Formats: sequence, structure tokens, C-alpha cells
Amino acid sequence: MSSMVSNPRLEVPTTAAPDMARENLIHFDAVTAKFGQLHAMGPTTLSVRRGEFVAIVGPSGCGKSTLLNMVAGTLRPSSGSVHYDGQQVAGPNSDVGYITQKNYCVPWRTVEGNVRMPMEFRGVARAEMDERVKYALAQVGLTGFERAYPKQLSGGMLQRVMIARTLAYGPSVYLMDEPFGSLDAQLRTRMHAKLLEIWQKTQATFVFVTHDLQEAITLADRVVVMSRRPGCPKLVVDINLPRPRDVVDIQADPAFGAYVKQLWHALDVD
Ligand SMILES: Nc1ncnc2c1ncn2[C@@H]1O[C@H](COP(=O)(O)OP(=O)(O)O)[C@@H](O)[C@H]1O
Ligand SMILES: [Mg+2]
Repeated sequence: MSSMVSNPRLEVPTTAAPDMARENLIHFDAVTAKFGQLHAMGPTTLSVRRGEFVAIVGPSGCGKSTLLNMVAGTLRPSSGSVHYDGQQVAGPNSDVGYITQKNYCVPWRTVEGNVRMPMEFRGVARAEMDERVKYALAQVGLTGFERAYPKQLSGGMLQRVMIARTLAYGPSVYLMDEPFGSLDAQLRTRMHAKLLEIWQKTQATFVFVTHDLQEAITLADRVVVMSRRPGCPKLVVDINLPRPRDVVDIQADPAFGAYVKQLWHALDVD
């Protein structure tokens, strides 16, 4: 990658110590979540390694979004603790980028204005912001749409703006909550390829919530299956499919089908 990009998290680290790479970036220790009388999440103990791509699947209402909110620091556990990079999460975590199905584009700002927003909050210098915006929009195939307004864009393009915004911000962790749920199958497949490319380039950590098993297997190193509410991990499957992955070819791998079957049964039996 060009040395023009001054965001260190967009660069591939050249001296990643192997033991650092194995270190847990996120750790849930016996975490529960209650909302009044509603017991949303059961005792959950789960670690995510630095640079890992973890997918979380589970029935609706089992606490998947709740789990992400705790990493983001917008929600505190009712009991247990969440650690991020060795520290207990005690407030909003500026190291994470959050991408959901909804688009949070500000309608009165252009595409580049939207992508710039989190960097403005963080006080990134103008020249560096411009450089990062340019890089991120190129990554998601939106070069040429810098001055367009959200209302001029399709759903898929808006979703790519959201990804560019997060990429430009350069978080260590991407929290993705069913981000492609509203996209058609072809676009979703293209976004999978793009996401794996971004994951590889940034070496960031991804926690990706989905109810699409194929999507989880295509992308992840590990898939966590949550039980029904109050949800807690009932099965964790290592996805030993080769990397880098071709998001279409990988589905023809016999092991892929075996993973679908295994996860499907875990989801089904409760
Ligand atoms: N802020 C909240 N107040 C009250 N109930 C909530 C709140 N957030 C989530 N819940 C409830 O907790 C349960 C788990 O929610 P959530 O984590 O969003 O589930 P999932 O993302 O797996 O569908 C659901 O029953 C949901 O309605
Ligand atoms: Mg949810």
C-alpha cells in the first residue's frame, strides 16, 4: 500500500509479534444483561483475539446487539465484566467502529461530508482527513461520488458510505450488526469480498452479527452460536477454510456444506 496513507490502521503492520496476535482484544467474563425484568443475556464468557473475524449467530432477541453494545461501551453488563485491550470497558469505546443495517448518513451532508464526520469529532487534521476520505471511498468503489447527497444514492451505495466512514476513521474493531440484511444477494456477495479485503488490509478485529449462516461461514474464523434468550454461547465453531477466500468458490468446498449443517442443527435444537 502507498505510503501516502498516514492512518497506521490502514497499513499492514510489518512487525506483528505472533504472541501479540494471539492476545485477546475483547474478553467477556460471565456477562449478563437484564433490562428491568427481562433477562436478555445469560452468563456469557467469550474472547475475541486481536485481528480475528468472529461471527455471532442466534435467534432474534437472544442478545447479539446487546453484546456489541457492551464492546462499544454504550451499555454496561448487569453482572460480570467486559475487557477491551486489557482494560474494563467503562464508557464509550472510541476504538470501535459500529456498522448496522440502518444508514446513519446525514442527509444535508455530501458523501465526503458524511465520511469525514467521525474524524471531525476526533479532531483529525484537514489534510489527513481528505486523504483518508479519498482512500476509503476508493476502497468501496465510490470514487466520483464525493459530492453526491445521500438521497441520490441506492441502498447499497449508502451501505458502502457507512463502511467508508468507518474505514476512514480507522477503528481497531469493526462491530457489524446485520449490516447487509437489506441488500440483494449479488450486492451482499460483493460486499463480502470487499469486507474480507478490508479485514486483510487493516488487520482489524471484526465482530459480525448475522442470522445468515452462509455469510458467517464465508467470512469468519470462528462462528459463535447463541442460545435463545437469555442468550449465551452454546457452540463455537472454528471455520478451517483456507484464506484468502474467494467468497463464491468457498461455498463449493465440501467443508462449507458440513459447517452449514453443523451450525444449522445447533441453531435449531434448543
Ligand atoms: N434498551 C433496552 N431496553 C429494554 N429491552 C431491551 C433493550 N435492548 C434490548 N432489549 C431486549 O433485550 C433482548 C435482546 O436484545 P438484542 O440484543 O437487541 O437481541 P438481538 O440483537 O439478538 O436480536 C430483546 O428481547 C430486546 O427486546
Ligand atoms: Mg440485533
